[in-house]
Amino acid sequence: MELNRRTIMAGAAAAGLAAATVGGGSAHAASGRSGGGRGPVRTPFGRLADGTRVDSWALQNGGTRMRVLSYGGIVQSLEIPDRRGRYANVSLGFDGLEQYVSSSPYFGALIGRYGNRIDRGRFTLDGRTHQLSVNDGENSLHGGEKGFDKRVWDVEPFTRGSDVGLHLRLTSPDGEMGYPGTLRVKVTYTLTRDGDWRVDYEARTDRATVVNLTSHVYWNLAGESSGTVLDHELTIDASRFTPVDAGLIPTGERARVAATPFDFRRGKPIGRDIRSAHQQVLYGQGFDHNWVLDKGITARPQHAATLRDPSSGRTLRIATNEPGLQFYSGNFLDGTLVGTGGRVYRQGDGLCLETQHFPDSPNQPSFPSTVLRPGEVYRTTTVHAFGV
Ligand code: GLA
Repeated sequence: MELNRRTIMAGAAAAGLAAATVGGGSAHAASGRSGGGRGPVRTPFGRLADGTRVDSWALQNGGTRMRVLSYGGIVQSLEIPDRRGRYANVSLGFDGLEQYVSSSPYFGALIGRYGNRIDRGRFTLDGRTHQLSVNDGENSLHGGEKGFDKRVWDVEPFTRGSDVGLHLRLTSPDGEMGYPGTLRVKVTYTLTRDGDWRVDYEARTDRATVVNLTSHVYWNLAGESSGTVLDHELTIDASRFTPVDAGLIPTGERARVAATPFDFRRGKPIGRDIRSAHQQVLYGQGFDHNWVLDKGITARPQHAATLRDPSSGRTLRIATNEPGLQFYSGNFLDGTLVGTGGRVYRQGDGLCLETQHFPDSPNQPSFPSTVLRPGEVYRTTTVHAFGV
């Protein structure tokens, strides 16, 4: 689908996004000759308290349009058509930088160094115990107090054949948030000619460490601010999940999903069992668990989950080479945040599907290892394919 820059502007305005001077003198505009690709185009988004500039990058390809912030690598909006060709922003977010800095529950952000929780923020590696930054009760969540979601990334745009995208880079110094090793991270966001959003993660260290990178987009395929996702149908290709304790730390078990609310193998509406009195649902205040994907760790991304909104017909298929998927049903959204569309987000108004290694793996010898050593390259890929 051919879209011009004016269309991006109209779409952004319709979605109530921050005004942008697309095509301004400093913008890196690429000609997008193939696959309907446009951009990436940079516009200023705001400044942090210390004066650091934050940019917004607009890109589009194959009918998908997205805006990405250099702050946190945040997907601020992602627009796709419904079955009648009408666009909606299907990712929860904010209008302005201030809200991302002060009160974001990781909307759209890159997560690191470690996606999800590490028990009491502590782990032992090669005989040495490391104390991480603790930010979720007594546990460390999503990399600690200042994770990669709160860092300004170095962004480099590219066009390659029919792909358009961004390379996002940062260096996390040795000891940052308590993690050993200088970690050099590169995340590549690619919009393909089919409108798929592909995320490639890469990291290297100079000392043994643990790494588990992911993306924390909140999806609502009917459009952000349109209400809850309880009618969305979800399929997860997983026969087991990792049960948690009251603090949402895995017990180490891999329990069967059969005959529990956690069985999404044949697909079902998210709302069907979300009010079950199953102890695990109570702990999560809904779904907030890691599913053990049947395919396991794979060399190439393989299908993990499908999300479908019957009302709009929009679908999202997720493929990954990771062994786990955190399905979080937006349980902590409590009506205190005003989203991009100017409306309040309430519980269940969005859901996250975070491809990952299992939570607390550094303390769980039976889980696949998240250790990265000097000389090794951490590489994982997740592909989000949109359709109707
Ligand atoms: C993850 C966690 C949740 C919650 C959200 C952010 O998905 O598993 O428990 O912390 O992030 O609010």
